[in-house]
Amino acid sequence: MIIETVNRASDADHYLVFAGSGAVPSISPEVDRAIALMSKELEKSGDVKTIQMPIGDRLVSVAAVKADDGITPRKLHLAAAKAFKTLKEYKAEDIAIYLDGAPDIARERALFETVARMPELVSYTNNGRKSHPKIFSFRSVKFITEQNIAREWIDSATFCAEGTVIARTLANERADSQTPETLAASAADLGKKYGFEVEVFDKAAIEKLGMHAFLAVGRGGHDAPPALIVMRHLKGGDAPRIALIGKGIVYDSGGYSLKPNASMKNMYVDMAGGAAVIGAMTAIARSDLAVNAIAIIAACENKLAHDAYKPGDIISSMAGKSIEITNTDAEGRVTLVDAITYAIRNEKCDILFDIATLTGAARGAVGKFSSAVFATDDDIFGHLKTASTLSCEKVWRLDLDDEMASCLKSPVADSRNSTASTTDGGGSILGALFMLDYTEGKPWVHVDMASVSQRDDAPAFSSPGATGYGAALAYHFAKSYSR
Ligand code: BES
Ligand code: ZN
Ligand code: ZN
Repeated sequence: MIIETVNRASDADHYLVFAGSGAVPSISPEVDRAIALMSKELEKSGDVKTIQMPIGDRLVSVAAVKADDGITPRKLHLAAAKAFKTLKEYKAEDIAIYLDGAPDIARERALFETVARMPELVSYTNNGRKSHPKIFSFRSVKFITEQNIAREWIDSATFCAEGTVIARTLANERADSQTPETLAASAADLGKKYGFEVEVFDKAAIEKLGMHAFLAVGRGGHDAPPALIVMRHLKGGDAPRIALIGKGIVYDSGGYSLKPNASMKNMYVDMAGGAAVIGAMTAIARSDLAVNAIAIIAACENKLAHDAYKPGDIISSMAGKSIEITNTDAEGRVTLVDAITYAIRNEKCDILFDIATLTGAARGAVGKFSSAVFATDDDIFGHLKTASTLSCEKVWRLDLDDEMASCLKSPVADSRNSTASTTDGGGSILGALFMLDYTEGKPWVHVDMASVSQRDDAPAFSSPGATGYGAALAYHFAKSYSR
């Protein structure tokens, strides 16, 4: 796909026209009329309206945008997604985008990148292993504007969107073919291709590191032994070292606390947090950001086996704290605390970011459009919130309410991995509080993406299945700590 800025459209192009306070070129009287009507509608309500109309053998997609800062990146993201989705359905491969009708889009980097990510995001189709896959990609996308758009804006948008697509592709991979080892190999390939360092620790090396909690979860996965995947991009000089930790359960059966089939069948997606940080690293490396980013995935399978860990076990951890296992299905947090300890002690990270499909309760708490996030302080949350605005991936902050921590007290261990009562509620909060104990006073932000990891009713910017949520968020979060 070629994405560029040019002076004018060519004969083969289909159009996407942004209309607002600026001058719009006249494509046809019908389009002019539609724009006039939509602008009037906008005076009454809303910030953006879209319409699609075939003119001759072209498809013209119009997005009318309210002038005077009515438009946010997220609103533009949803509108642009709709427009591109229609162009995709029409198999319109060459698109000319008139930006100057809504001049803010060409002037504000966040708005421009929101539009510029869309061709990649919408081109992706989750074909699985269909014998006759539907393959479509936009061939050329031209931005037509009088403003000077820096190549850097187009590049960072493209790298981010491709990072999201990498995350989707990995997270849509089924567990009959994706193991910790193949996930590590994918990371290594991408590291080689895009220029970040990848180190993989096998089971024996993980034992040497003393990651007992991670090992306990992975013990049932005999055919798919655990792997610790570490990716480094250290170009930030004396900037802080940012840990991007992703949950990497390649399949979550629940273990002895076995899931019912309905909640188990999609659990190949339980490494979506890991997929997000891999996607983020590709974008960070390709943008050559002046940051120190270290991505960490404790990858394993949560499976039944004669020797798998069991409810009632008391296990140890890399930090030396003991954990009473009350539910083997609350496995993500158990692997993540060892990844956090590894980040702090072995990689000397100053800032901790983790992203995980941690709790089904997240969707109940915040719905399917936002992740549930927790932060140890307002400053680190500010970085996340800014990243979220730029990536158009919504976050909803919940409290680390320490009264709830009583639910995780164990009479026989330093803590337990889930509450013993079924009526305590606050499942996402408990997951976060369990992990908080291992952060050693470092600034930490936790993104529970179980609410947004997968959509059967695909949003316009994605395809049914994994959304790729978090790759762009992690990229912008790391970028916010540039030197
Ligand atoms: N991987 C699941 C959470 C999940 C649910 C991810 C839906 C994606 C979509 C996680 O390991 C899990 O099973 N959590 C339990 C925690 C409980 C046992 C304390 C849950 O949410 O029920
Ligand atoms: Zn689980
Ligand atoms: Zn899980």
